[in-house]
Amino acid sequence: MFERLREDINSVFHRDPAARNTFEVLTNYPGLHALLFHRFAHWLWGLGLKWIARTISTIARWLTGIEIHPGATIGRRFFIDHGMGVVIGETTIIGDDVTLYQGVTLGGTSWNKGKRHPTIGNGVVVGAGAKILGPFEVGAGAKVGSNSVVTKAVPEGATVVGIPGRIIVKPKGEEDDQRRKEMEERMGFDAYGVTEEMPDPVARAVRSLLDHMHAVDDRIENMCKALRKVNSEYQNGALPPLQEEDFDCVRDDSDGTRG
Ligand SMILES: CC(C)(COP(=O)(O)OP(=O)(O)OC[C@H]1O[C@@H](n2cnc3c(N)ncnc32)[C@H](O)[C@@H]1OP(=O)(O)O)[C@@H](O)C(=O)NCCC(=O)NCCS
Repeated sequence: MFERLREDINSVFHRDPAARNTFEVLTNYPGLHALLFHRFAHWLWGLGLKWIARTISTIARWLTGIEIHPGATIGRRFFIDHGMGVVIGETTIIGDDVTLYQGVTLGGTSWNKGKRHPTIGNGVVVGAGAKILGPFEVGAGAKVGSNSVVTKAVPEGATVVGIPGRIIVKPKGEEDDQRRKEMEERMGFDAYGVTEEMPDPVARAVRSLLDHMHAVDDRIENMCKALRKVNSEYQNGALPPLQEEDFDCVRDDSDGTRG
């Protein structure tokens, strides 16, 4: 239990550069106070002591301005920054390392009993004032922009902004991975053996260039399709495929003999 408490306190240091020491965090962070009240209320809720659990949650709300239903399930290292106006509904499930800012609602859109609030994946960040409404999933690592209203599932790693929420940064899709793999095999070097975490600037630049080439290819293909609707003869043939020998110079140089 104390290990978990230490994690909750440390998560404040990791996510708020203004936090200076443990005493300051324990005394001045309403998000932490609300979470500690919630951990206790949730335990009582699980024991079937529902009235007392709700009452503790209400007291926490009076003191912090953060309303967390005791039935909500919250993972480790949860952090609410500033906090005022946060509402978390009964059937919400929150993973580990999630961050919420002030004014966030994790709410429902129906009066039906049963699951009616969102499930928030690990590492999700929800910006100030955002509303996530309904029993769908926000995938791990997603970001929800401040003041967005999200009513549909969000894929892992996506960034969603606006009303209604729209995806501005697409998650890395399997299709893209496959295309990159094919391209790298044809080109004879392993740009994509490099994971995103590796800070090799050349590999990252190559990766960006390949992504850009694919985007341009898609755009041209769509333009060709539109032109073919006007003139069915237009550019009906496929593009010539890249040949292995086109990349011999890359492979010849793999022993580093060229300057
Ligand atoms: C959503 C968010 C994570 C995106 O950050 P990012 O990946 O760095 O994205 P950018 O800032 O480059 O913005 C990308 C585009 O989305 C738009 N955008 C970003 N956040 C937006 C928001 N909340 N609502 C509407 N549009 C938004 C930008 O204007 C930009 O549009 P453009 O491409 O037409 O210029 C960030 O903007 C955000 O809202 N974070 C929450 C921060 C917060 O609540 N802080 C509270 C501190 S008290």
